[in-house]
Amino acid sequence: MCGIVGYTGQQQAAPILLDGLGRLEYRGYDSAGLAIRDGGALAQVVKSTGKLRSLIEKTDEGRTLPGTCGIGHTRWATHGEPSQTNAHPHVSGNCTGSGSGKVESEVVGVHNGIIENYMELKAKLTRHGYQFYSETDTEVVIKLVDYYYNKYKLGPVDAINRTLVRVRGSYALALMFRDYPGEIYAARKDAPLILGAGSDFSCLASDVPAILNYTRSVYYIGNLEIAKLLPGELHFFDLNGDEITLEPTKITWDAKAAEKNGYEHFMIKEIHEQPEAVRNTLGSLISGGKIDLSESGLTDEVLADIDFVRFTACGSAWHVGMTGQYVLEEMAAIETRVELASEYRYRRVLPRGHELLIVISQSGETADSLAALRKAKSMGVRTLAIVNVVGSTIAHEADHVLYTHAGPEIAVATTKAYSAQLIAVYALAVQLAYVQGKIDGQAYGNYLEELSALPDKITRILEEKERIQWFAAKFASAKDIFFVGRGLDYSISLEGSLKAKEISYVHSEAYAAGELKHGTISLIEDNTLVIGVLTQSAIFEKTVSNMAECKARGAYLMALTSYGNYSVEDSADFTVYIPKSDPCFMASLAVVPLQLFGYYSGVARGLDVDKPRNLAKSVTVE
Ligand code: AGP
Repeated sequence: MCGIVGYTGQQQAAPILLDGLGRLEYRGYDSAGLAIRDGGALAQVVKSTGKLRSLIEKTDEGRTLPGTCGIGHTRWATHGEPSQTNAHPHVSGNCTGSGSGKVESEVVGVHNGIIENYMELKAKLTRHGYQFYSETDTEVVIKLVDYYYNKYKLGPVDAINRTLVRVRGSYALALMFRDYPGEIYAARKDAPLILGAGSDFSCLASDVPAILNYTRSVYYIGNLEIAKLLPGELHFFDLNGDEITLEPTKITWDAKAAEKNGYEHFMIKEIHEQPEAVRNTLGSLISGGKIDLSESGLTDEVLADIDFVRFTACGSAWHVGMTGQYVLEEMAAIETRVELASEYRYRRVLPRGHELLIVISQSGETADSLAALRKAKSMGVRTLAIVNVVGSTIAHEADHVLYTHAGPEIAVATTKAYSAQLIAVYALAVQLAYVQGKIDGQAYGNYLEELSALPDKITRILEEKERIQWFAAKFASAKDIFFVGRGLDYSISLEGSLKAKEISYVHSEAYAAGELKHGTISLIEDNTLVIGVLTQSAIFEKTVSNMAECKARGAYLMALTSYGNYSVEDSADFTVYIPKSDPCFMASLAVVPLQLFGYYSGVARGLDVDKPRNLAKSVTVE
């Protein structure tokens, strides 16, 4: 996912923009660039491929780009391979060579998202004499702004509005116009963009960490709205070009929260922030000893009417939905289905009368999840978003929103947001069960007590992380790992397997333990690592016997179970114990050792655990 930054004020812009891009690196990118204006002078554009470090060196930490107004970009390639020419910023004029240097163009800009009809627009512009130097959709949209700017001569806001009406797709745009020195214009549709201002500057970025050092009062413009940035001033406009007023959102995240706080990586820091993330999320959902979802609009009357729940999400968020299915059906006896968003959005869906569709998304920007949400809404289904990023697109568009309070999650591999999402699902399940009379007051109180004990139990697990670190190093050269479990333990295995894969690049599979004998057990060889998740006492023995079948074929067994289940050591070669909780909540505890296993496996292999290869923090393209 691309990263955008912009600044106009009294200070030199380039160093500020480079700092902001550095805080957006986690979004994944393959090239970067800046465009800086020094008063009335033309913009200077500098771009580079690879890591941000090369742009910093190329501009001598921004010193070769004097000027107090500018925009910056880190590019995650969608149209056109990663290259200097395709890197942003892009310009409305022609561009020789790599596209760096002073530009005569009227419009200079950066973009995050996808312009779906860019080929059609490119043909139109070509007919009007435009030439194109890159393969990007971004260059097309910037030239389209230039086309309307020169055709109607009604200024930047008008030119942008006409462009927004013509383009299809998703975008967050930041633009500078030659005739408007010191000003930046921004617009968005379905891609994240936030704005801020101080007494003598204004700024914009794709995400909060990039501007937290300058302001914590931010503005979110809506789809098809425009912002105009002047030093110390922000103006907002609608699609008609009329000025509108927006209220700021206070960001309570501490600037340090987006730093590593002394941990080696963001991922291990965020694993250790899980007790706080769980506690904060519980605090936002429970008050006065009762679950209160009213802020989301999910009143007891609404909950009483729901007889079918469908989760839809991607990746780890989908694993939360898998856990949610077991919890909702077990606790509230409500039929529940879990759908991969990328499947749901294209298949024939048969909505139910009193269905609640729950979209789970840390970023709130995942393209497949957003598309699934929109599909559900188009069918008249009531929708709930469980989201971590305030003001994100999925949060804006769902009928109801339950925010998780995990704070900024920088590591690409989600950990604390996953745990916070589980809490939101548990709270919803308990409240649904209680409102629909499936549990009595006693059970309700017991569940709340168990939930409030989770943060301390997670802390206790983290205090014993060295054993897992040792074990992960022992198996750092593993070629295959199998995570097996039954029921809720299977959904936990899914997350454990993904953590191992995405952080240590080791092939791994999560398998319903009872399914192994139907083919996959043929893959078990001497020393194949099989990790058995055993938190559900009702099916404990069944999974242990499946693990024994693997051991009989040479597997090395690790067991993950609650204190007290010491009999498992008769089969397992290595056992990790975790505290007990209600069976419905055990995913919150069992996932922690598996996160640590994935993390330490990646560290043992010397990998970039915060920014794994080929992955982005939020997949905002299909
Ligand atoms: C999880 O570690 C991955 N980074 C990925 O599977 C992620 O969970 C998925 O892309 C969904 O992202 P979202 O929660 O922001 O929608």
